[in-house]
Amino acid sequence: MEVFEKQPLGSEVALRGWVYRVRTQKEHVFIILRDATGIIQVVVDSSSPFFSEAENVTIESSIHVKGIVKKDPRAPGGLELRATDFKTISLAEPFPITKGASREFLLDVRHLWIRSRRMNAVLKVRDEVFRSLHEFFRKKGFLEVQAPMFITAAVEGGASLFEVDYFDRKGVYLTQSSQFYLEALIFSLEKVYTVAPSFRAEKSRTRRHLTEFWHAEAEMAWYTFKELLELEEELISYIVDQVLENKRKELELLKRNVTLLENVKPPFYRISYDEALEILSKKGFQLKWGEDFGADEERALTLEFDKPVFVYGYPEKAKAFYHKNDPKRPEVTLSADLLAPEGYGEIIGGGERIENIHELLEKIKKFGLEQSQYEWYIDLRRYGSVPHSGFGLGLDRLTMWICGLDHIVDAIPFPRTIRRIYP
Ligand code: 4AD
Ligand code: MG
Repeated sequence: MEVFEKQPLGSEVALRGWVYRVRTQKEHVFIILRDATGIIQVVVDSSSPFFSEAENVTIESSIHVKGIVKKDPRAPGGLELRATDFKTISLAEPFPITKGASREFLLDVRHLWIRSRRMNAVLKVRDEVFRSLHEFFRKKGFLEVQAPMFITAAVEGGASLFEVDYFDRKGVYLTQSSQFYLEALIFSLEKVYTVAPSFRAEKSRTRRHLTEFWHAEAEMAWYTFKELLELEEELISYIVDQVLENKRKELELLKRNVTLLENVKPPFYRISYDEALEILSKKGFQLKWGEDFGADEERALTLEFDKPVFVYGYPEKAKAFYHKNDPKRPEVTLSADLLAPEGYGEIIGGGERIENIHELLEKIKKFGLEQSQYEWYIDLRRYGSVPHSGFGLGLDRLTMWICGLDHIVDAIPFPRTIRRIYP
């Protein structure tokens, strides 16, 4: 109700919105009216010709109302509207969402639940995340590009590919990552990024896995591993800062502890995979060297930190084949995951890529992959290869952490998980 809040007391304003709450008390009908910007109290007197119309209005009915702005300390926001005109646009049937509805039910009626003040706040933060991400990359001179969603070769391993019925062709899948296309595009544009869905047929039923998620990916020619991490921490700090600056009200509504977010400034912590393993073993996790961390490990690990932490130098076999091995220590890669604090865990995966053709061919063989599937990707090492680095950021996970949500499905309007594909 931002428009309303800007009106001088005593002036007449016209509002449109939905009935959030309604109750009749003696001589008045009190309606809490909701629009995209917030809520406001509307009061209809029994003396007005539209009193009975207002009295009979139902939750989520859409209305037009005109009225005089008055101060009222008891009203939410300290202001109310004394109605001078009232019109029902569409009288709603009994609204199915009532207090105490279960999480599953709210997901079944997600198309209605997105009207809630809580979802409204999350979606505004999410919008700010997307907006500021684009702004950041533009300011840094990146070009925005688009990659196909139908692909023929796995980027992140075959196990999580969704195969699609593509006319009579076998071996067509939904993309897991636009990375390889971005790698091709840097030879033309040098610094590129994209924001697109990625798909993972992961059987993981965790609080942080979607089958369709929003992926921001960037790829940079000439960037070293060190420069890559600096770019990532600058990006995350910028987004968090913009949310704090422009979406305070929403964070408050979500009861987010903003002190923790205010802490998000470069430099982030940097620990090696080996150090992470040591911390985890002290916490009772029996991981063998070489194993990747799962949600539980990352949760335990990041509860130790008050701002994001990079875990770098993952063992070769824990990361995808395209990662460049560390020349100083070939059993580990120049890779890093960025983990969000407070138990949230991985939000970014990235690293320096293999630029040498022989190294790449060897790695493809070592990982038991079919070279013929990656011919165009290998070509990039044939014609003027350059050192380069890149990363992928999960925007739903980032929104989840910034909002302090306990499940990723609440960070996206219409979540897709193993069990849910409706509405
Ligand atoms: O770590 P991932 O799998 O890395 C890649 O896909 C690289 N090819 C990216 C790149 O370097 N261009 O995924 C990157 C990020 C993760 O850190 C996580 O935030 C998010 O994508 N992500 C998911 N988010 C929600 N649900 C899932 N199932 C996700 N899988 C990955
Ligand atoms: Mg990863």
